Amino acid sequence: VDSDFARLIGLHENAAKLYHHVLMNTQVGEAALTYLHDRGLDDETIATFNIGFAPGDGLLKPLFEERKVDYQLLRSSGLFIESQDGQLRDRFTNRIMFTIRNASGKVIAFSGRILHKDPDSPKYLNSPETKIFHKSDTLFNFDLARKEIRKENAVVLFEGFMDVIAAYSAGVKNGIASMGTSLTTDQIGILQRVAETLYVSYDGDDAGQNATHRALSLIGEHSNMSLGVIQMPEGLDPDEYLRKYDAEHFRAVYEGAKETPVGFALRYLARGRNLNNQSEQLSYIEEVLKIVAGVPSPVEQDLYLNQLADRFQIDKASLKEQLSGLRQSKK
Ligand code: CTP
Ligand code: MN
Ligand code: MN
Ligand code: MN
Ligand code: MN
Repeated sequence: VDSDFARLIGLHENAAKLYHHVLMNTQVGEAALTYLHDRGLDDETIATFNIGFAPGDGLLKPLFEERKVDYQLLRSSGLFIESQDGQLRDRFTNRIMFTIRNASGKVIAFSGRILHKDPDSPKYLNSPETKIFHKSDTLFNFDLARKEIRKENAVVLFEGFMDVIAAYSAGVKNGIASMGTSLTTDQIGILQRVAETLYVSYDGDDAGQNATHRALSLIGEHSNMSLGVIQMPEGLDPDEYLRKYDAEHFRAVYEGAKETPVGFALRYLARGRNLNNQSEQLSYIEEVLKIVAGVPSPVEQDLYLNQLADRFQIDKASLKEQLSGLRQSKK
């Protein structure tokens, strides 16, 4: 079993090299390389992340067959799709290949991105679960980020691969992403062992905000990490923000735009509400106060009360009175 493990990793390492070579040095990879350059990735970043291209006619099958790699091993590698009659063909074709590495930096899976929008195929196609790839405990870029995470005692959780890569190239090197699925408790456990603080930096769109809300409660429930939210302005994702502005602006958001989970909740709960309407104002304030009531630090509570008092022109004393009522009823 152990040797299977090593052989599967060998196949992936090999495949990654080939995909990278096709991207960098062949005509077949030209369009993909241009695409990546247009998205702001330079060759150094492409090399650091070992990004590649899988050509349209399948690269791996003829090669591994020529090398007489065992059929059962190929079948179990996740790199192929098996047809009814047991024939294998490359799973990844015509896609930009992101390598998924384990904590030791070995390639254990791929995620392939289409070059052009296509309603009939998913934007990202991931390797299936295999002996060497378990989505639920894999974090994209953890191997490269770990040192920086330890140094800063903080980790940044992004939504997408491109966000991690963009942040890295802009000097924010403690970023990781979960694997296209939502965050798992295993992943939280891994992060808790290396950092005391975690920042959620998901996309600024609705999907990203909903995911932020979910992630915060899951992490809060399963770890003691101190939490923050970093959201890019204008509803952008971190990669889009970096491209629209520059590394300096990007880092400024990272340093300056850290929100507490409750600060985020205040914003999140305001979405889609007409806060000019008095009854909506009241229900909003009530909901928010319930959250503020759960904040252990009186100073932090005060911060939110000031914010509410300001925003809705309410006497802070009334807010406090209502808050203490909530605290009593909780007991
Ligand atoms: N994802 C996926 N399958 C999809 C769409 C998304 O697995 N069909 C995962 C990918 O890991 C992706 C993440 O969800 O990185 C976030 O999705 P999205 O924000 O749509 O993608 P971006 O990371 O912004 O991708 P890009 O910038 O390349 O468009
Ligand atoms: Mn390389
Ligand atoms: Mn998104
Ligand atoms: Mn995105
Ligand atoms: Mn994006």
